[in-house]
Amino acid sequence: MSGKFITVEGGEGAGKTTQLAFMREVLERAGCRVTSTREPGGTALGEEIRSLLLDHRHDGMALATETLLMFAARAEHLERVIRPALAAGRWVLCDRFTDATYAYQGGGRGLPPERIAILEDWVQGGLRPDLTLVFDVPVAVGLERAGRRGAADRFEREEKVFFERIRAVYLDRARRDPGRCRIVNADRPVEAVRTEVEAILAGWLERG
Ligand code: TMP
Repeated sequence: MSGKFITVEGGEGAGKTTQLAFMREVLERAGCRVTSTREPGGTALGEEIRSLLLDHRHDGMALATETLLMFAARAEHLERVIRPALAAGRWVLCDRFTDATYAYQGGGRGLPPERIAILEDWVQGGLRPDLTLVFDVPVAVGLERAGRRGAADRFEREEKVFFERIRAVYLDRARRDPGRCRIVNADRPVEAVRTEVEAILAGWLERG
């Protein structure tokens, strides 16, 4: 079976990390070879770019800089990790991808989506995820969960309205692209979320 490109999205505290580990397990049990990775990051250079992006020393970074750094890390990630893994028949499970740029830099910070689309076409060519799971929780619930994890990074420090705009963009994009995206209600006990995630993946595995 050829590999698929699966991305996982959601606001802060949506429970992505727990579900990603479970998704890997489900895929491996089905005999898939899986590459788990994340954005921004996933390569040595990309992880350095991630540190720059999340660090409070760079509070007030220009929006163009922030967006270009996201795509710089993505270009590296695509060339060194994602494309080679897919070409080798592996499944790629990626914690955030370009939907996050539309949600955070577009919705959150107000960058026109047309600008993001130009970079998306340039950096990715025709490559888009085959499946995207959007873990959705009310902003207050997500921020409360994320707040328990320790020091807030440059994004986590933002106001609640910033995250409301992010959530709205994620939901809007997912609804407009139902062939690729599934919205998973993550405001439920972890077991219930797992059951739904497993069912979605089972559907995909059956399709081959
Ligand atoms: P996280 O995935 O560990 O939550 O941290 C990554 C942070 O980077 C998160 O706050 C979302 C943000 N981000 C963007 O703003 N744009 C992007 O394109 C990506 C991939 C992440």
